[in-house]
Amino acid sequence: MQGVKTLSEFIIERQDDFKYATGELSRLLNDIVIASKIVNREVNKAGLAEILGATEQENIQGETQQKLDVFADEQFISALKNGGEACGIASEENDDFVAFTNERSKQGKYIVVFDPLDGSSNIDVNVSIGTIFSIYRRKSEIGQEASIEDFLQKGRDQVAAGYVIYGSSTMLVYTTGNGVNGFTLDPSIGEFCLSHPNMECPKGGKTYSINEGKRREFSPAINAYLDYVKEDDKSTKRPYACRYIGSMVADLHRNMLKGGVFIYPESTSSPNGKLRLLYECNPMSFIMEEAGGLGHSGKENILDIEPTSLHQRVPIVIGSKNMVDKVLSYY
Ligand code: AHG
Ligand code: MN
Ligand code: MN
Repeated sequence: MQGVKTLSEFIIERQDDFKYATGELSRLLNDIVIASKIVNREVNKAGLAEILGATEQENIQGETQQKLDVFADEQFISALKNGGEACGIASEENDDFVAFTNERSKQGKYIVVFDPLDGSSNIDVNVSIGTIFSIYRRKSEIGQEASIEDFLQKGRDQVAAGYVIYGSSTMLVYTTGNGVNGFTLDPSIGEFCLSHPNMECPKGGKTYSINEGKRREFSPAINAYLDYVKEDDKSTKRPYACRYIGSMVADLHRNMLKGGVFIYPESTSSPNGKLRLLYECNPMSFIMEEAGGLGHSGKENILDIEPTSLHQRVPIVIGSKNMVDKVLSYY
């Protein structure tokens, strides 16, 4: 096994980088890894199993829940509850946060928020989907049940964040605030192996990602940028290529490796955009910033926003630093 470093080995090795290191965060990360392996297994056989297709339920945001969304949500909740390092969770699929009531979990120092399956409308058509997670230290007293103040923390206060992409191969990418590292799942040994050490998002790029079908609903600033990307200018590699997968994780993973900008702006029908601050924008912005990129709402750095509610949405411009700055120059 010379040369192969597994994610579990890496987490333990890096434990001392973390100022509160006592092993709890490492165990918490490992719980998330186990849940993501189980979700990966189900995602891979989605085409075979009855699990494929929509349930009749809608989540709090009125979107049809896919069966795999519910399955993934349950897997993460159960891994985190049994692990005992988190005192509670909040997820895109649950109306309210879940405070774990068992004694061990009440002693947990952390809370976890997650989007169990991102891009889930892509499941039926076999396009990459993902999981996004984010970890905070609790604000409430240890020994008590988790409370809402634990969840409404600024993105800047995250202690760790990561995503899993279920693509042509499955990868887990995460940060604890000391750089970003990526691990590819080797299905033959069932382990994530370090494949992308010290990931850095290129400062520039030549692709932009936005649901341009909604262009008439966008602001003059976004429309001016959308004109800019189509102009001919060899020195800035324009016109840019448009790439929009419809899974934020997959679009941002590409931008992370190749450079690019992803925009989900405010529109006349959705004044706060679509994406959720807690489950999507904060973790992805933390990872991007750690890799040298940027996540911005158009008004402020995503990580500086004080959340006021669990399912709050926010417009986002995220990816290569210079490309995000260029978009912002039109505001
Ligand atoms: P989710 O599946 O968790 O609801 O997230 C889907 C999100 C995001 O992944 C994607 O970039 C965006 O929705 C696509 O939205 P549009 O179809 O409105 O472009
Ligand atoms: Mn999502
Ligand atoms: Mn989702």
